[in-house]
Amino acid sequence: MPDTAQSKTVWITGASSGLGFSMVKEQLKAGHRVIASARNEGKLADLKQEYSEQLHFIAFDVADADQVESVGDAMLQLTDTLDLAILNAGTCEYLDIEQPDWSLFERVNEVNYMGVVRSVQVCLPLLKKTPNAHLVGVSSQAVQAPFIRSEAYGASKAAVRYFMASLRLDIAPYDIDVTCILPGFVDTPLTQKNDFDMPFIMSPEKATERINKAIEKRVFEYAFPRRLTLALALSRWMPTLWFKQNARK
Ligand SMILES: NC(=O)c1ccc[n+]([C@@H]2O[C@H](COP(=O)([O-])OP(=O)(O)OC[C@H]3O[C@@H](n4cnc5c(N)ncnc54)[C@H](OP(=O)(O)O)[C@@H]3O)[C@@H](O)[C@H]2O)c1
Repeated sequence: MPDTAQSKTVWITGASSGLGFSMVKEQLKAGHRVIASARNEGKLADLKQEYSEQLHFIAFDVADADQVESVGDAMLQLTDTLDLAILNAGTCEYLDIEQPDWSLFERVNEVNYMGVVRSVQVCLPLLKKTPNAHLVGVSSQAVQAPFIRSEAYGASKAAVRYFMASLRLDIAPYDIDVTCILPGFVDTPLTQKNDFDMPFIMSPEKATERINKAIEKRVFEYAFPRRLTLALALSRWMPTLWFKQNARK
């Protein structure tokens, strides 16, 4: 493992698949020590062969409040400090308004929003102890405009965005930077279930490249791709037109 002054300790949640898995690979390639979390180790087990000293796995179901303490303890067994935490674990379920399953709101919220809150609970003590630490939360471009069937997913991601913005103010005295990422469509198992057009969809590798640049710059918020950001701004500039174009027929 490269042991330079540049080498960081990084925690990534939702690390077993899609965007999280791609981010783990890039952090490892950059020589950083990665603590990867998800419910299942999955493909991370293969990476472990190549990066046995750099990569650690801590199982964490972010929807389970009872795991916070043991995950915090497991983290302390590995490290006293944390330079970067990327809170990326997430899920998506759509509402069928004809036959609504209202319980999906709790399921989605427990992972996407409360999962981020619980992850902050785990990592904040370590970030506080680390000079120049950085906390990154993954929200979604979905928060920029209303979409059909996205009541639960969009609301949970809007909650993440607000939580990160508010937390940024509160933890400023600890010299911890906070970045909120709003990805557009990325080709992962999460979106492979979608049955609609996904404009400007990109590979997890391309998305990771963009996210890493935003992390390096430590921007407050980064929404990408820009073409999608502009298209979604239509919902604010011309809300009636957005409604007519997007309402369920
Ligand atoms: N793909 C997109 O177009 C897109 C767009 C905007 C935002 N995002 C956000 O980006 C993040 C990553 O999504 P992705 O597209 O890479 O999806 P993905 O391939 O389905 O990966 C989701 C990851 O979250 C983990 N996860 C799910 N439920 C969990 C739980 N209860 N506890 C702990 N980990 C859990 C999964 O691992 P286990 O199943 O092993 O737990 C997996 O590692 C999500 O927050 C998603 O909302 C994605």
